[in-house]
Amino acid sequence: MARYPDSRSALGHALYIAQDECGGWVPHEAVKDVAEVMGMEAADVQSVMSFYVMYNKEPVGKHLIEVCHNIACAVMGSGKMFEMIHEKCGIGPGETSADGLFTLKGVECSAACGGAPAVQINGMFYEQKKPEEIAAVLDQLKAQGQDGPGFAGSLYNDVATPEKAAKPYAGGPSTAGKG
Ligand code: FES
Repeated sequence: MARYPDSRSALGHALYIAQDECGGWVPHEAVKDVAEVMGMEAADVQSVMSFYVMYNKEPVGKHLIEVCHNIACAVMGSGKMFEMIHEKCGIGPGETSADGLFTLKGVECSAACGGAPAVQINGMFYEQKKPEEIAAVLDQLKAQGQDGPGFAGSLYNDVATPEKAAKPYAGGPSTAGKG
């Protein structure tokens, strides 16, 4: 918190740390712990957390898929992306697959409008991809089962600590224009 002029300014990063340490989501106990460390009311921490889509309020699967459904992405085909994921994983927005491998979130503008439709998987951006290209990524992750890295511990939350902050953008390198 010493890095911030006002300790409350560190709340976003504190929540990222909590999310990372709790396996990809922020349970109420963690909200209380963060509030205590920050010297804030738990209700204030809760209200910030509930405002931002990047903090998960429920447990998530091993892999977190986020599909933007805001205007640019909707025009560029995010609806077809949702359909493909439902077909492949049996889940809609806000749901986790029966095998616990995938959670799907619909998000409002991932700030990658130029790469619409924007999809993030474990924080890695996939831009301007066709549904079949994202399907291939999901197939690879399915084949790994519970092995390999997932959302918890991914770059998504990595910006939270000073040693991790030296890495590139928390969302991971964009794949726009590649492949
Ligand atoms: S509208 Fe999808 S990233 Fe902005």
